[in-house]
Amino acid sequence: MAAIGIMTCGGDCPGLNAAIRGAVFRASELDTSVLGIKDGFEGLAEDRTVPLTKANTRDILSRGGSILGCSGENPFRDDPAAADAVVATFHKHKLDGLIVIGGNSSMATALRAEERGISVVGIPKTIDNDVEGTDITIGFDTAVATAAEAIDRLRTTAESHDRVMIIETMGRDFGWIAVAAGIAGGANIILTPEEPIDVPAVVRTVKSRQEQGLDFTIIVIGEGARFKGEDRQYGSHLPGERYMHLSGVGAALADRLEEQEPLRWKLTVSVIGHLQRGGSPSAADRILASRFGVRAVDAVLNGAHGNIVAVRNGQITLTPLTEVAGKLKAVEPGLLSDAHTFAATT
Ligand code: F6P
Repeated sequence: MAAIGIMTCGGDCPGLNAAIRGAVFRASELDTSVLGIKDGFEGLAEDRTVPLTKANTRDILSRGGSILGCSGENPFRDDPAAADAVVATFHKHKLDGLIVIGGNSSMATALRAEERGISVVGIPKTIDNDVEGTDITIGFDTAVATAAEAIDRLRTTAESHDRVMIIETMGRDFGWIAVAAGIAGGANIILTPEEPIDVPAVVRTVKSRQEQGLDFTIIVIGEGARFKGEDRQYGSHLPGERYMHLSGVGAALADRLEEQEPLRWKLTVSVIGHLQRGGSPSAADRILASRFGVRAVDAVLNGAHGNIVAVRNGQITLTPLTEVAGKLKAVEPGLLSDAHTFAATT
């Protein structure tokens, strides 16, 4: 009987459990056992595992988060003893392969594991949709729906009170969520990390709307956006962490607008934050995640390790980990320019 390990790495997102369930169901059809690994590579190093069966995954399709817990720890970067323990635990359980459900940095870790002789197949997930080598990641569709609903709700206040409403979405390195939710929510200005924020241009747009009798403006800004001529991203570090948790560029934009037009506009900032990562996956994410789970098992059993399962041109396919690790996928220029067209005419 073949055996496969499965883990969820990095930040949680909607659809992780659907992917786990898809993998377990496919494996059981192929007489293969699945070992759930708690808390990503950290849990593999510490041999924290749970056998997964159809019985204990049957009801998790619609549940957010991960029943296995998530961790972004990378033992291959910081801790040689833990890296050796990862390899030893993999062999101890006589696993034929390891399915790593993760975002771009987890795929870099997965490649290190593959280089150490662990047969890895990746499943791309992140609400940010910035994993290279796939058109879409698990979690993005749900996050966009949540952000678009937030924009809809905030719009009623913006319209009723003539507000300039700044809505900060997630999206650490690129603006996929801001762009997609901005289009879906009818934003008037969309600002993303792909393009520097031009404050005078924002002022001109708000004023031009006011001249047309449109006294409210909806500005959607991705958390990772930077001001023109500046390198800084806004956020904070938890004690002892080198990783910066992003938040605050929306408030910084409000301050700069206020500097340019003192007391002229009623500005409101809403950071929708982790709401975008939580809750039940959309139907599209459930379908994508379930299919990725199935195809990842097939890839392991067919010896197609060293790849991620991916969607390209509407087809599920495989992309080599070497083409994914250490890279990020920016918003396509065509989508970005369509988003600005819609915003300018909304
Ligand atoms: O990568 C997904 C993501 O949601 C980013 O959009 C965001 O910057 C980050 O995770 C937030 O995670 P944390 O709370 O750990 O900073």
